[in-house]
Amino acid sequence: MLDVIMRRRSIRKYRRDPVPREMVLDMLKGAMYAPSASNRQPWSFVVIEDRRLLEAVPGFHPHAAMVPEAAGCIGVCADTSLSHGSMWIQDCAAATQNILLVAESLGLGAVWLALHPREDRVEGFRNLVGLPSGIEPFSLVAFGWPGEKPAMPERWDESRIHWNAW
Ligand SMILES: Cc1cc2nc3c(=O)[nH]c(=O)nc-3n(C[C@H](O)[C@H](O)[C@H](O)COP(=O)(O)O)c2cc1C
Repeated sequence: MLDVIMRRRSIRKYRRDPVPREMVLDMLKGAMYAPSASNRQPWSFVVIEDRRLLEAVPGFHPHAAMVPEAAGCIGVCADTSLSHGSMWIQDCAAATQNILLVAESLGLGAVWLALHPREDRVEGFRNLVGLPSGIEPFSLVAFGWPGEKPAMPERWDESRIHWNAW
């Protein structure tokens, strides 16, 4: 597990080969097994594979130039009426991270794109896929077969660890 976590990089270049449906379902399975506050599992997912929709994403997201080249992207959303207060944010973050880790374990490349709390991105995604009210979009994960291999950075920093007291 630590190996998968340390190998994972944000991948923003993709080869054009299609990603099998089973792999997409595995990423979604990983998301649905994330922890959630009071085990409310408030998430829902919008999988976008339609190229015209993928091409529209950079129109409302300033850091999403890679999306039209991706095999697809997953919109991680929450039904806030199911959420334990505002904990849907943490729940969706855990689900998003699980998607990235399953992608890495399958040899896919993926990148986390924030939607919440940027209103323009939230509205853009809402309009793109026709989200009903009460469903809040949290993040987009673009995925595909990796077309780049960024180096593994050094992140271990013992000075960030405090034992028992700061
Ligand atoms: C909340 C969040 C928002 C992010 N938004 C974007 C984004 O809009 N566009 C993008 O290319 N990468 C985005 N990233 C990816 C980060 O840039 C990336 O995780 C960071 O540079 C570290 O690189 P690594 O993922 O390869 O370890 C986001 C990551 C997080 C956690």
